[in-house]
Amino acid sequence: MTDALTVHGGTPLRGQVRVRGAKNLVSKAMVAAVLGDAPSRLYDVPRIRDVEVVRTLLELHEVRVRDGAEPGELVLDPANVEQAQVDEINVHAGSSRIPVLLCGPLLHRLGHAFIPDLGGCNIGGRPIDFHLQSLREFGAIVDKTPTGLDISAPNGLHGTKLALPYPSVGATEQVLLTAVLAEGVTELRNAAVEPEIVDLICLLQKMGAIIQVHTDRVIEIEGVQRLGGYAHRPIPDRIEVASWAAAALATRGDVLVRGARQVDMMTFLNVFRSVGGAFEVTDTGIRFWYPGGELSAVAIETDVHPGFMTDWQQPLVVALTQARGLSIVHETVYERRFGYVDALNAMGATIQVYRECLGGTPCRWGRRNFQHSAVIAGPSKLHGADLVVPDLRAGFSHLIAALAAEGASRVYGVQLINRGYEDFEAKLRALGAHVDG
Ligand code: EPU
Repeated sequence: MTDALTVHGGTPLRGQVRVRGAKNLVSKAMVAAVLGDAPSRLYDVPRIRDVEVVRTLLELHEVRVRDGAEPGELVLDPANVEQAQVDEINVHAGSSRIPVLLCGPLLHRLGHAFIPDLGGCNIGGRPIDFHLQSLREFGAIVDKTPTGLDISAPNGLHGTKLALPYPSVGATEQVLLTAVLAEGVTELRNAAVEPEIVDLICLLQKMGAIIQVHTDRVIEIEGVQRLGGYAHRPIPDRIEVASWAAAALATRGDVLVRGARQVDMMTFLNVFRSVGGAFEVTDTGIRFWYPGGELSAVAIETDVHPGFMTDWQQPLVVALTQARGLSIVHETVYERRFGYVDALNAMGATIQVYRECLGGTPCRWGRRNFQHSAVIAGPSKLHGADLVVPDLRAGFSHLIAALAAEGASRVYGVQLINRGYEDFEAKLRALGAHVDG
């Protein structure tokens, strides 16, 4: 596949697509397999770049990864992890953020871990201070080296009481993956409770872990001596579902997203309906369509679960360029997630970004130099342009904008979109989009 696509816009997307397991669960589930003393089976794994990266990383750690009988099934056998030559893993620096989650599992298996400098989308500083602090509280010794982190646990890992400064998804996963085999009880306060986290907890429970989710973001983990393998079908990718929904609305189309589940999408569905989109929950998925008439402006703030996901805002903003009035989006999770609006403005949108918190809740980025609120004035006629994909979610939004625009757009750097959207080109074609390489 080439790294650029020509998109001839103006055709409503119509038809159906299928979403598979959530990228942000599948990669963590693959890491969790390292904790088991028996093979694990993961179903519905999408063919995306992030899965390949984690697969290679696990293979470097001597986890045997093979395709199972069912399409999308992976079998992960961690029997030989102790034989791994872990100094090779810095080859993978820069391509993903998942390696940091290997800390706990590797410390349990090998007593030490080397974690290369991390990659991932450039949407903010993305520090890992919560991860490192948590590991230290379990008893790990963390040394920063010029190429990454050297982590050891000469006296083992011990349960502890922790409170996260912010309910970080990754740091919560770090604590879960470390605490399940640590000696004693761990209490985590201010934990993230995203559906992907709950799904990871279910999977760990299948392996033999004892984890309680209390009210008010408190998770309690009772360390156990050993864990087995799991067989798990992950929750569907709710970011991809919202992306297709927004694409259906922005192009005035009609898309059935097979595999989508209402329970994961409730917050999104409310906003989709307020904007003027229609949806129908069916046995096989959710159908999203443009029912005619004018779309309405909305004010939203992104937030941790059960709020409006930060990863939903980029595709939705494209649809909001077609709504009458002023929409406001206050991004409270990442400080730099509006980099993509310049491209939309170049296509004819009218979006202004602000440093102020333009929402009811003052957030961590207010009164600092972060342009983290956007005002979208619509409706705007979008026209084709040359676009360069800046990051995964922004990249898909560029595609949606190009599909909604009049004329042709050339979108460069589309390989980045493969990190999180399986077969997106084929899916676009199946929905009637005019795209060529
Ligand atoms: N944060 C810190 N210190 C830390 C960890 C996080 O300050 O040690 C801050 C981050 O800088 C950010 C906020 O906490 O401002 C939230 O970050 P979080 O840790 O929750 O995010 P993450 O685990 O790095 C995952 C997803 C993201 C998704 C966020 C929020 C994966 C691989 N990534 O990131 O997904 O946006 O949670 O839901 O699970 C994507 O799929 O495109 C993507 C970016």
